[in-house]
Amino acid sequence: MFKIEEVKLQLLADLDKINSMEKLNNLKVEYLGKKGKITELTSQVKTLDNDKKKEFGIKLNELKKLFNENYNQIYTKLNEELINKKLQSEKIDITLPATKVKRGSKHPMSRVQEEFEDLFLSMGYTIYDGPELESDENCFQKLNIAKGHPARDAQDTFYLEGEYENYLLRTQTSTAQVRAMEENKEKGPLKIVCPGKVYRRDEDATHSHQFMQIEGLVIDKDISMADLKGTLELFLKKFLGENTEVRFRPSFFPFTEPSVEVDISCFKCGGKGCNLCKHTGWIEVLGAGMVHPHVLEMSGYDPNKYQGFAFGTGIDRFAMFKYSITDIRTIYGNDIRFLTQFDRRDEE
Ligand code: PHE
Repeated sequence: MFKIEEVKLQLLADLDKINSMEKLNNLKVEYLGKKGKITELTSQVKTLDNDKKKEFGIKLNELKKLFNENYNQIYTKLNEELINKKLQSEKIDITLPATKVKRGSKHPMSRVQEEFEDLFLSMGYTIYDGPELESDENCFQKLNIAKGHPARDAQDTFYLEGEYENYLLRTQTSTAQVRAMEENKEKGPLKIVCPGKVYRRDEDATHSHQFMQIEGLVIDKDISMADLKGTLELFLKKFLGENTEVRFRPSFFPFTEPSVEVDISCFKCGGKGCNLCKHTGWIEVLGAGMVHPHVLEMSGYDPNKYQGFAFGTGIDRFAMFKYSITDIRTIYGNDIRFLTQFDRRDEE
């Protein structure tokens, strides 16, 4: 009995000194651990006479209760203090000005490409992707440009060697026409646009050895020049403004018949004549035409059942118009001073 009182007094004195979680944990070991003071008292119970057992038991339970209540109370208090301390140390002043994160901006070419894609998607086209490394067959032969055809001269490109000597870097996205037609096993209607990189052996302020085109192809029954004209007029007016005038001139492409070259009225001078339009009032922007029956046939379509129109244009050219870029090489130069201008321009 005496021992219990002693432990109790000791406990009360010890409790007063607890000012950290570490001390609290040590206290628990000291009292309730394997060799703890309360544990020891508990093991004494069985050595007592029956009449003493009861009273001892009651006192012991009171002591345990005292310990637990104090332990819990101190634990809660210390824990709260710890949390508050942590909150205090992690406090941030939200009124401080934020550190500026350097944000990249979308490349002018991606902007124009996405704008084109959105426009054609809204007209029910799907986006078709073709590879940049192409066979001579897809890039030329199946587009009616046989080996030795003079049209190849204007599209000299980079050829592979050795066992891949029949492969080249595509010179035009028209290759996608061939692929799309051949992949369409039902030989039914098609309505696609194919944006992508193309390559030619050119390099000056308005030509780059690599540039981007977007190709369009529509195949269906009863497709005529009227569909071609309507589609291209809509596309050009939507992109360049409703006041844009569109002119169709007869031209030649081996894979279209008839073929047209498409001009727009000069947006800089409004058609009066200036250095941009070389004083003609018009700027050439597109090649187009009705898909040549032989081209349809080579890719498995019956030209008596199906007709189609196709068009192709340079995305670079439109980016140059839209953002008044005078040298195509800046588009591919990756100069940060050039590239960061475009976010602002779109907001204007
Ligand atoms: N592929 C042609 C070029 O690169 C453009 C074109 C596409 C012409 C489709 C007619 C039809 O010049």
